[in-house]
Amino acid sequence: MNFMMKTERITLRHWLETDAKALYKYASDPEVGPRAGWQPHKSEEESLEIIRTVFNNPTTWAIVWNETGEAIGAIGYGPSCDCSLPAREGEPTVGYWVGKPYWGKGICTEALRLMIAHIRETTVIRSLISGHFTDNHASGRVMEKCGFVATGETVFDNSLHLGENRPIRVLRLELKSL
Ligand SMILES: CC(C)(COP(=O)(O)OP(=O)(O)OC[C@H]1O[C@@H](n2cnc3c(N)ncnc32)[C@H](O)[C@@H]1OP(=O)(O)O)[C@@H](O)C(=O)NCCC(=O)NCCS
Repeated sequence: MNFMMKTERITLRHWLETDAKALYKYASDPEVGPRAGWQPHKSEEESLEIIRTVFNNPTTWAIVWNETGEAIGAIGYGPSCDCSLPAREGEPTVGYWVGKPYWGKGICTEALRLMIAHIRETTVIRSLISGHFTDNHASGRVMEKCGFVATGETVFDNSLHLGENRPIRVLRLELKSL
């Protein structure tokens, strides 16, 4: 599927194998993955494998910085973002990250707004769920600015990824009423 979402600064498009170098550059940063529950990438080959597997689905997109054409982050919803949140039946989980040099510029908020508009226009999905580690306030703000409302806390069984369980603040966005 070649569908793209675009603003003046960013484009959301599906991942390409040629993004592996950029993905490794940003996803190998130890400040990025662990905040979202995954380990930093260890090689460009690993990043390529992630593009071929985890990112290879219709609801995961690269966040591309228009000025350079570089993939600087990822956003998506559905199985690739699942992290055992207390979701309603069929309710997709949302996930996102952006490379550290691009933090604090409103990029994730812009990307999430684009994706939500796309979901509203093209699907019958009624609500979205997401969560962030309780110490990751920036991620909470991204969700809140996009209309998500906190519903409580849970504990992420993170043992497979980072060897510890950590509390998660859960938020939900209602898209369509019953
Ligand atoms: C969290 C993350 C996605 C935010 O992306 P971003 O593009 O920098 O976010 P934005 O610029 O759109 O918005 C950030 C908001 O958080 C706020 N913020 C930033 N750092 C903060 C902090 N330490 N405490 C509280 N708020 C903070 C900003 O002020 C802004 O809110 P405001 O507009 O109300 O001022 C990004 O830092 C990231 O990729 N982190 C690593 C991976 C990750 O945490 N992914 C999410 C997993 S749930």
